[in-house]
Amino acid sequence: MSLLLLGSWEQDGAEARLWAQVLGDALPGEDWLFEAPRTPAQAAEVEVAIVANPPHGSLAGLPSLRLIQSLWAGVDKLLGDPLLPAGVPLARMVDPAMNEAMVQTALWAVLALHRGFFEVQAQQRGHVWRQPAQCRARDWHVLVLGLGELGLRVAQSLAGLGYAVQGWSRSPRAVAGVACCHGDALDDALAQADTVINLLPLTAMTQGFFDARRLARFKRGGSLVNLARGAHVVEADLLAALDAGRLAHAVLDVFAHEPLPPQHAFWTHERVTVLPHTAAQTDPHSAAEVVAANLRALRTGQALQHVVDRRAGY
Ligand code: NAP
Ligand code: GLV
Repeated sequence: MSLLLLGSWEQDGAEARLWAQVLGDALPGEDWLFEAPRTPAQAAEVEVAIVANPPHGSLAGLPSLRLIQSLWAGVDKLLGDPLLPAGVPLARMVDPAMNEAMVQTALWAVLALHRGFFEVQAQQRGHVWRQPAQCRARDWHVLVLGLGELGLRVAQSLAGLGYAVQGWSRSPRAVAGVACCHGDALDDALAQADTVINLLPLTAMTQGFFDARRLARFKRGGSLVNLARGAHVVEADLLAALDAGRLAHAVLDVFAHEPLPPQHAFWTHERVTVLPHTAAQTDPHSAAEVVAANLRALRTGQALQHVVDRRAGY
């Protein structure tokens, strides 16, 4: 049986080669296929597909497939594939190095917003010497949307720095130091938050989540930090809210179209900070260990880790 590695890799091939090498080292003695099977015999040999958002349809016609292991945390693109094999478990990536990176990005964004450092950066371009107001962390309210692998760690880290942290999830949660809520409590939480961090998965329930109606619920002068998916945001509505001064700033790592088109208004908007989908990348070395552990679990009949609930979409 063989392991199939497939992805939508960068054009120069370096990314694909790195993954092939790191996974090959972590899983010695395996038979590998590094491109879609060319013959029915090759297709019949594939036991596990390790994938980084491969082209839609590329996982169809693999009769022996027992596991699809994503190298990405978010599986919205995979689940959008109408030919994704239905009865095969799909595991998403939960990578300790990615978790760490996401906490760093969220802390940076909150610190910069709380202390006015984005404004100070803009002031430098105009040779302006003006000290921003300074308030205690405990008086700065942060709302983290999504209390999963990433959101939970972000919320805990911010609480550890003394911020007043609220967290919102689908089901009720209890997290030390974080005021947790779910369901309809969202509107009240939005109205209190100085900074809203989005770490929801992209699902049928969360597509277009930040539309004009929801942005109108934000505290006047609040900020949005979107570290999840571009399609959570109705971009025209966000621009309108920023232009109207309802939102003071948006830190955006993800966009409806990536790379962000050169003419897009976000690039030059004075209240927008653009990141190139770099909040938290999968680290090939730690991810390879995660893949190896799930492969061992599969072959020894143990429970697979981080299996996606396809009906919920995450
Ligand atoms: P996760 O562990 O699956 O957690 C998802 C959280 O969202 C859970 O707390 C879940 O609630 C909550 N949720 C889901 N649907 C909801 C709804 N309709 N209403 C309220 N809460 C809802 O996901 P994760 O690993 O933290 O990752 C989150 C997302 O981050 C990924 O899906 C991906 O899109 C994005 N991401 C971005 C980057 C980047 O570099 N920008 C990197 C990695 C991941 P329950 O706890 O009740 O289930
Ligand atoms: C990155 O955005 C991921 O989902 O892993």
